[in-house]
Amino acid sequence: MPIVRLVGIHPFQNKLFKDKCFVNITRTDRIRSFVLRAGRTTAGQQRAIDELGPKFLIPFQEYALDLQQAFSGSSHPKILEIGFGMGETTAKIAALRSDDDFLAIEVHPPGVGALLKLIGENNLTNLRLIRHDAVEVLEKMLAPNSLDGIHIYFADPWHKKRHHKRRLIQAEFVKLLASRLKPEAYLHLATDWHNYAEQMLLALNAESSLVNTSTKQTAIETFSAADLASDLELAKESFKEFKPSLQQLDAKHPGYVERPAYRPTTKFENRGIKLGHGVWDLVYKKN
Ligand SMILES: C[S@@+](CC[C@H](N)C(=O)[O-])C[C@H]1O[C@@H](n2cnc3c(N)ncnc32)[C@H](O)[C@@H]1O
Repeated sequence: MPIVRLVGIHPFQNKLFKDKCFVNITRTDRIRSFVLRAGRTTAGQQRAIDELGPKFLIPFQEYALDLQQAFSGSSHPKILEIGFGMGETTAKIAALRSDDDFLAIEVHPPGVGALLKLIGENNLTNLRLIRHDAVEVLEKMLAPNSLDGIHIYFADPWHKKRHHKRRLIQAEFVKLLASRLKPEAYLHLATDWHNYAEQMLLALNAESSLVNTSTKQTAIETFSAADLASDLELAKESFKEFKPSLQQLDAKHPGYVERPAYRPTTKFENRGIKLGHGVWDLVYKKN
């Protein structure tokens, strides 16, 4: 049900609406890129959910969302953000780019409350949130060729090798992302984990409908021959985990870009930069 119809509804209906938005995310037949952490929602976040949820929170649905209707009829460009965490970056970008509309997805309830609070404090009107697995939102709610941009900032890096299969950016997901972009639309990712940056680079460069906007060439440093997929793994149809090919390891690749001015640095990121840690931004265009 589009959000615009839910404004000003009876408190009882409001409870049903909230239950719908905070329903357990239970599907277990695929490896997920997140683990639902037990985190307390503060009183301020809860108040924001109660007061602003009916206007800004869109329940998950199994069919395509009318994006223009979801943004009260706005025909401004539609940018999707996946995994907004506590929403500080999302709110700053939405305030800066008031001529764009932002649909932001997160699974963590306190994060949803925190961003709704920022929406209220900053009087933002160009943001809508969905509390659900972004993979299913892309599959079910977003039509092909419907987005003008996608942001994915600091996706969980899943450091340990045995957890790499949980990383969001795998070949199949890249195809799904690309399919939802309009021609000429952009995809912007940032990460502070070098090995994940290289995985992103190789997986995205391999997607024929995307063009890397970087003019710099880079060599792969964090993968080795020990990480290559075995013939057996490649032969399995269900094999989903990213593994580089020998050719990819040996070649140079179109690489990273300077941080675009609209992406603010986070406190956490600034601390890392001071300690000498890297941050890698990747920007692609759909051809
Ligand atoms: C490391 S945090 C980064 C948060 C934020 N983008 C930032 O830069 O501070 C990654 C976030 O992505 C969310 N996330 C991971 N997989 C997701 C998915 N499939 N759908 C929605 N959110 C997801 C996690 O819950 C987590 O809050």
